[in-house]
Amino acid sequence: MSQKLFRLTLLFVVLAMLMAMVSACGGSSAPAQEAAPTEAAAPAEEAAPAEEATPAEEAAPAEEATPAEEAAPAEEAAPAEGDNLVGIVLPTRDEPRWLQDQARFEELLGTAGVPVQILFSQGDSAIERTNVESLITQGAKVIILTPQDGTAAAAAAELARDAGAKVISYDRLILDTDAVDYYVTFDSVAVGEAQGQFLADRAEGEGNPLYLYAGAATDNNAFLFFEGAWNVLQPLIADGTFVIKNSSEAVAVQDKAELTRDEMAAIIGQVTTNWDFNTAKSLAEANLTAATAEDKGDVFILAPNDGTARSIADVFAADADVSSYLITGQDAEIASIQYIIDGKQSMTVLKDTRVLAADAIAAATTFLEGGTPEETTTYNNGVIDVPAKPSEVVTVTKDNVKEAIIDSGYWPASDFTGLE
Ligand code: BGC
Repeated sequence: MSQKLFRLTLLFVVLAMLMAMVSACGGSSAPAQEAAPTEAAAPAEEAAPAEEATPAEEAAPAEEATPAEEAAPAEEAAPAEGDNLVGIVLPTRDEPRWLQDQARFEELLGTAGVPVQILFSQGDSAIERTNVESLITQGAKVIILTPQDGTAAAAAAELARDAGAKVISYDRLILDTDAVDYYVTFDSVAVGEAQGQFLADRAEGEGNPLYLYAGAATDNNAFLFFEGAWNVLQPLIADGTFVIKNSSEAVAVQDKAELTRDEMAAIIGQVTTNWDFNTAKSLAEANLTAATAEDKGDVFILAPNDGTARSIADVFAADADVSSYLITGQDAEIASIQYIIDGKQSMTVLKDTRVLAADAIAAATTFLEGGTPEETTTYNNGVIDVPAKPSEVVTVTKDNVKEAIIDSGYWPASDFTGLE
């Protein structure tokens, strides 16, 4: 090799390395990357089977942006998908819950009969809006949106409505706008009630220490979960079975069976995890630091979902004054099923994302055909009663984990160790 050729080759290698570094530093939250098309955008008719349709995304763990997405600059966004594009905007890749939904949507691609594109908002309402705009530009006629912040998402929903697209609120309700055509969700009050019931059924005598934790105040579901839990727990707080240890706002209203939204907001403000694992951990640590040894012992913990439950459980498990703890969760995340098998988390609530994704695609298809999806109830979003179809939920404990999770085909046994 001549020296000139060698130098040129070296220069090329260095340039390629630099480009790779710049791309890797971009972070998964950059709008351009979030807007990058996935193979899921391919029309279902043309798409390879679901498993092959998105190799990069399916294989990648949550934290890592996929090579395909890193490489795709915004200008290379997918060309218009024709009249039937269904755009799906999910809140974040950083929680296994939403990767479940992504995978379930991808499993449906082969059968959906419509082209689908999935984008993530990475916890940022501005990216969420950019994602909706991008989908509309590509001709999306239905937008399935899980709002990062229920109220902030109203503007994005109105954008979609103004462009002639139908808006389906997915799992979380878009608030304070009439630009929501349909809501597919689980019965979130029932989720909270299942969590509360689990703790209530296991409390004996009086004075059982109760620690309350909640989701993000920007998520309407956080209120519904708390409302459901309060429905069950409040009578047992009022009669002294439980004693709330970490929320003066909850103690102040402990004799009230029904709380106003403002009262719930005040409690959630004190005990919010913001759906963030680190926030949950720090809050639990602060609560235990502030508590006396008598506030500990055999404790009962209302944790709003699996990710936060694992963080909070680890903190309580490490406290020498906590002799035992019972802790709730929801989402049937693989890591939490393992925690349940190992006795580190007490329960979860299975919200079958296979059903939710299928309901959303069925509703989208109905809209594309000019029809009206099935409505079993309505949810008021502050402006209108949104037609909705909530799905049922299942309590999962160590006792029924095999039946509810493995036998139902939700997760394969090979994902776990120690299953009996
Ligand atoms: C969902 C939960 C999820 C939580 C955090 C809620 O709106 O219903 O399933 O764990 O958000 O992302």
